[in-house]
Amino acid sequence: MNLKNRSFITLLDFTPEEINDLILLSARLKNEKYEGIPHRYLEGKNIVLLFQKDSTRTRCAFEVGALDLGMGVTFLGPNGSQMNKKESVKDTARVLGRMYDGIEFRGYKQADVLALAEFSGVPVWNGLTDDYHPTQILADFLTIKELYGYLKGINFTFVGDSRNNMGNSLMIGSAKMGLNFTGVAPKELWPDQELINTCLEIAKESGATINFTEDKMAGTKEADVIYTDVWVSMGEPKEVWDERLALLSPYQVDMEMLNNAKPTVSFLHCLPAFHDKDTDVGRQISAEYGKKYPKVKNGEMEVTDEVIESSKSFVFQEAENRMHTIKAVMLATMGENYE
Ligand code: CP
Ligand code: NVA
Repeated sequence: MNLKNRSFITLLDFTPEEINDLILLSARLKNEKYEGIPHRYLEGKNIVLLFQKDSTRTRCAFEVGALDLGMGVTFLGPNGSQMNKKESVKDTARVLGRMYDGIEFRGYKQADVLALAEFSGVPVWNGLTDDYHPTQILADFLTIKELYGYLKGINFTFVGDSRNNMGNSLMIGSAKMGLNFTGVAPKELWPDQELINTCLEIAKESGATINFTEDKMAGTKEADVIYTDVWVSMGEPKEVWDERLALLSPYQVDMEMLNNAKPTVSFLHCLPAFHDKDTDVGRQISAEYGKKYPKVKNGEMEVTDEVIESSKSFVFQEAENRMHTIKAVMLATMGENYE
């Protein structure tokens, strides 16, 4: 694998071999962490994390990953820098590229992460945009490999807003790596046809299949993995909740759906998940819409608490894997002599 100086913007830019190598490197780094084997391969380097949206997993994964690799880290939140307000992304890129060896970006526009990559001269990693969330897919696929031992041929069902950053990226990742991807959602929430066509082309090489259905029982019947994500993503206006609840509340992932799949099915979710009363947004939405959409009355939205807490749920293993996989991305794109 030679990914030195490459940016990690979308999985569309990477071959199946490169994705596989990143997953293998992640597994190796996970083992080194567990065994207490130091891996400070990037000692003396510094990275900066630019977050226009909130984060727990992605931020912590980059920070802990960078520290384990021996690097210094600067975090810039939505209000901490001049970017966007007094300085363009292009100028920010040219400044940060002279001080840092790598840049993580979480924000809205895919164009911004592309501009950072174009003008900074250092590797840029996409920590989530409105369109894609590629580092999450590496963690999801490492988790699936840990659970089943392989990726090719896994029946992967995504239930919910299939045209958000997660739906898009999981479809691309599946097409690249030969998983059989099924999106289960009302037609209004299927991805852009152009992206589906691109994935169908990629799938010809890998043997993957890509399908969409509105029928949740048919779509989950043969599933090895059932995955869901929030119904309203960061950056979307509050007003979309009503429409989204109408479209997606029939698609809440519950035990009936899990029991409809293969007996060996696993449940994954990128997190954060609305599955109980213990979140402000969950409580607000339940109070406002619970009568109209009874399924959301306990703060449970895209997934029930019973599913998250069940023995079929591996969401916290998946969350931990964010760190090992992000570490691999940083090492592969910045490091040398670590093989
Ligand atoms: N899954 C994920 O990206 O989580 P955060 O928003 O907490 O980073
Ligand atoms: N689709 C979600 C993913 C969060 C990790 C969002 O963009 O808010």
